[in-house]
Amino acid sequence: MVKQGIQCRIDPVCEPFGLIIYGASGDLTKKKLLPALFNLYKHNLLSEKFFIIGAARSSFNDSDYRNFIGSYIAEENRDIIKHFLKRLYYKSTDYNDINSFKSLKRKIVSLERSYRTGKRRIFYLAVPPLLCETIVSSIGEAGLTLSTDWSKIVVEKPFGWDLNSACSLNRTLHRFFHEEDIFRIDHYLGKETVQDILLFRFANSIFEPIWNRNHIDHVQITVSESIGVGERAGYYDRAGIIRDMFQNHIIQLLSLIAMEPPPTFTPSRIREEKVKVFRSLRPIEKKHIPEHTVFGQYVSGEIDGKIVPAYRDEKGVSKSSNTPTFAMMKIYIDNWRWQGIPFYLRSGKRLKKRVTEVSVHFKTVPHSIFKGVVSNEIKPNVLVFRLQPDESINLTFQTKIPGTSMCFRDVTMNFSYRDYSEPIPEAYERVLLDCLRGDQMIFVGQEGVEIAWEFFTPIIDFLEKGKKVVFHIHNYKAGTWGPWESDEFIKKDGRQWWVK
Ligand code: NDP
Ligand code: BG6
Repeated sequence: MVKQGIQCRIDPVCEPFGLIIYGASGDLTKKKLLPALFNLYKHNLLSEKFFIIGAARSSFNDSDYRNFIGSYIAEENRDIIKHFLKRLYYKSTDYNDINSFKSLKRKIVSLERSYRTGKRRIFYLAVPPLLCETIVSSIGEAGLTLSTDWSKIVVEKPFGWDLNSACSLNRTLHRFFHEEDIFRIDHYLGKETVQDILLFRFANSIFEPIWNRNHIDHVQITVSESIGVGERAGYYDRAGIIRDMFQNHIIQLLSLIAMEPPPTFTPSRIREEKVKVFRSLRPIEKKHIPEHTVFGQYVSGEIDGKIVPAYRDEKGVSKSSNTPTFAMMKIYIDNWRWQGIPFYLRSGKRLKKRVTEVSVHFKTVPHSIFKGVVSNEIKPNVLVFRLQPDESINLTFQTKIPGTSMCFRDVTMNFSYRDYSEPIPEAYERVLLDCLRGDQMIFVGQEGVEIAWEFFTPIIDFLEKGKKVVFHIHNYKAGTWGPWESDEFIKKDGRQWWVK
């Protein structure tokens, strides 16, 4: 039972701003960014003085764009939507044409006068990663960052395409922006339940002493989605699951579970501890990649009673695409705390259901005094962070079934976030607010991004440059838990997937 009445106050953003979103016609902008900004606006968390410009190649005028975005905002009060949308503008932009950016600059300057925002500009790159460097160069070369009160830039994950492109993007960003004004976003870090992992570990004293190889047998991280690629083939078919989920969301979850306690709850100290985890990831040598991984791509199947198409039949996907839409990996962290403990990571599209869960599996009891007394085995304790949906934290343990004979049963002690009366805020609301305030706490640092790429780039190269790659990508039916090879893999280790 959660005690009510303790309010966690959200401070509004006071400073005026102009927000320029590149990739304004895309999935992220219409489904997450602008609905999140609308919610902040509706709850009076934004300054009175702000405007938003959407920029992309697609052609819209302001009015068409407002209608387009309006259809993605779920709100019954049409007046409040209308007021919000009045602040939204659109500018068709060619990312390679400097004149296009100069013309965008004229629009920005004119709106800055109308809205009296001062020259406080935020550039948001909601585009596929291959476009980021070009856009940053054009922003800088067209003088959009010159003579401003401040200018910040937000870069979506995946940050870069591989190690080299991430380093190059960092260099280009630093030509025009200070590191403290660069916000590398990973919206999983804005999820309430993800932030709670650190609270759980470091605001309770009873778990930390057993949070190590002496007591933990293994850890599983599953990020499963039932949706397919939708209309995002332009981005996804070139990215694939490793760039889309592993190099960022999953590795960030792993770092929160595995890191040492930072001395203080400050952005730089937390980043330092994450970097140490990334540095300790045991590299998977090319010849060992098949022994540590399983990759898959979905074929047609049934989800929620509906037949859904194969990945290769999705709009915009090549009929011969070898892009993986599923991956599982076994990885090790080479340090004292985690030596020899496997972390099983799994993610995919068009899987059985949407669920993101981290389960920490403890060792079985060293010796059973109940041998010969009870017939059922004693199951190990499992601590589960259910990150979404039905957000909760639960612990399974053994109890005696009431009665005169000796029988066990595992039961679950459950804390559900639903017990709080406050709704769980959308991750994008939190990341946008923090960015507007200049708070770097939940954003990713340059070093962390580059080291994470160091680990994943050889795996991506193996998949994309290896001649035998096709043989390593197994088909799986939509609506299942991925290729059966993934279940076999963990079974061979004497374990099974917790989420099934
Ligand atoms: P989309 O595929 O919807 O692409 C965004 C926009 O970029 C498109 O509307 C299109 O605009 C332009 N674009 C797409 N492909 C190309 C291309 N090959 N060349 C030039 N322009 C192109 O992607 P998302 O919006 O889903 O994702 C954008 C970024 O946001 C990615 O980095 C993704 O990882 C990240 N992200 C997405 C989330 C989501 O839920 N969608 C959640 C979290 C992060 P136009 O043609 O009009 O220029
Ligand atoms: C994004 C990926 O980063 O995260 C998408 O690009 C994925 O492919 C999405 O669908 C999942 O986010 P969430 O918040 O719905 O778990």
